[in-house]
Amino acid sequence: MKILVVGGGGREHAIIRALKKSPDCGDIWCAPGNGGIGYDATCKNIPATDVDAMVAFAKAEAFDYVVVAQDDPLALGMVDALAKVGIPAFGPDAAAARIEASKVFSKDLMKKYHIPTAQYEVFDTSAAALAYLKTASFPIVIKADGLAAGKGVVVAETVEDAEAAVRACFDGAFGDAGSTVVIEECMTGPECSLLCFVTAGQSFPMAPAQDHKRAYDGDLGPNTGGMGVYSPVPIVTDEEHATMVKVMEQTVAELAAEGIDYRGCLYGGFMLTPAGPKVLEFNARFGDPETQVVLPRLKNDLVEVMLACANCELDQIELDWRDEWAVAVVLTSAGYPGSYEKGKVITGITEAEAMENVTVYHAGTAVVNGQLLTNGGRVLAVTALGDTFENARNLAYEACEKIDFEGKTLRHDIGLRALRGRDAWDA
Ligand code: AMP
Ligand code: GLY
Repeated sequence: MKILVVGGGGREHAIIRALKKSPDCGDIWCAPGNGGIGYDATCKNIPATDVDAMVAFAKAEAFDYVVVAQDDPLALGMVDALAKVGIPAFGPDAAAARIEASKVFSKDLMKKYHIPTAQYEVFDTSAAALAYLKTASFPIVIKADGLAAGKGVVVAETVEDAEAAVRACFDGAFGDAGSTVVIEECMTGPECSLLCFVTAGQSFPMAPAQDHKRAYDGDLGPNTGGMGVYSPVPIVTDEEHATMVKVMEQTVAELAAEGIDYRGCLYGGFMLTPAGPKVLEFNARFGDPETQVVLPRLKNDLVEVMLACANCELDQIELDWRDEWAVAVVLTSAGYPGSYEKGKVITGITEAEAMENVTVYHAGTAVVNGQLLTNGGRVLAVTALGDTFENARNLAYEACEKIDFEGKTLRHDIGLRALRGRDAWDA
């Protein structure tokens, strides 16, 4: 099969590496891709958001299957447009992708069907939101309604911070995405991501993963796209896991009841609160960096699984996971998630990948005159597999030491809290 993956980050690299293990995967392309993905797939420089150009390209190149991995092309209806020209694709259509693209849509859905989530209010004007904050208790969470590249959420400790976040949204920091704002109750507890393959009103859970959203050690600093992740999640109880699986099943069933035929990956972001798991958000796609630890543990043929998902035949496949633990540490450019420099020479990837059970996924890299350079905030995700959580973690950090570039920044405590046990969250 000739396959196109739409996107250009570490997640897409992990999807490509997993697809390539399948005997059914022939020619594989990525658009726009990135420098490092270019070692594994042919990259075509079409922006992921240019639906018309992407569909025309997919048609001209006669792709057999397209994996739309990124949030905005899904929200823009790339899967719908591909279907119109007869090209099957992995990912939800635009109507289904609203579960991520509109926080108001997803919060209202959860409220209607009593899916556990934070209490919330929706505001269309800055004045109403600011007035509400005068009566609110803190901390509180401010969310732009639409897609904001992972930057549209602020956990505000003080009324001043909350007001600044509200003003940023209505002043256009996120374009149209911030013209409606959700203000919600701040929940506490460890986070856990449960990604599911979804088809025909049914949900098939993948192995759970835990991301580290904050930029600095000790879960301090601003939210990022994700600084490190592991799978499975040792601190989740069986009861909590069962609740998350049930919430995902219920959500998919309710979507179907609303006339939404969701197909693809549905990502449930949960907080394991003292009152049980509650939904932080849904994403209409694989997580980044969750994919970089979940797919390396998947034993099944990913091409087969994705085709079954698109063809509503997933109930004929049993998902099977490797026993090994996976830990990924993200290497970023100094300054991320704020401003950072690009174009720094990267060394040591070959040495890191020569280590057994280590894989380096490229997120923000470019190849210029044969040289691998940094080209983004999140540059690489270094994934290691190990027979124990501790071994996987140590190996990932050992591999990170082999890699170097000016401004290389990483969190040193990925997985540390989980290693200490559940009590580490109550401290
Ligand atoms: P979201 O994009 O909605 O998942 O939000 C990004 C991150 O903000 C989450 O992973 C949490 O770390 C944090 N967050 C979002 N909503 C809440 C909430 N209601 N309470 C506490 N933290 C939250
Ligand atoms: N890891 C968070 C996300 O993919 O949205």
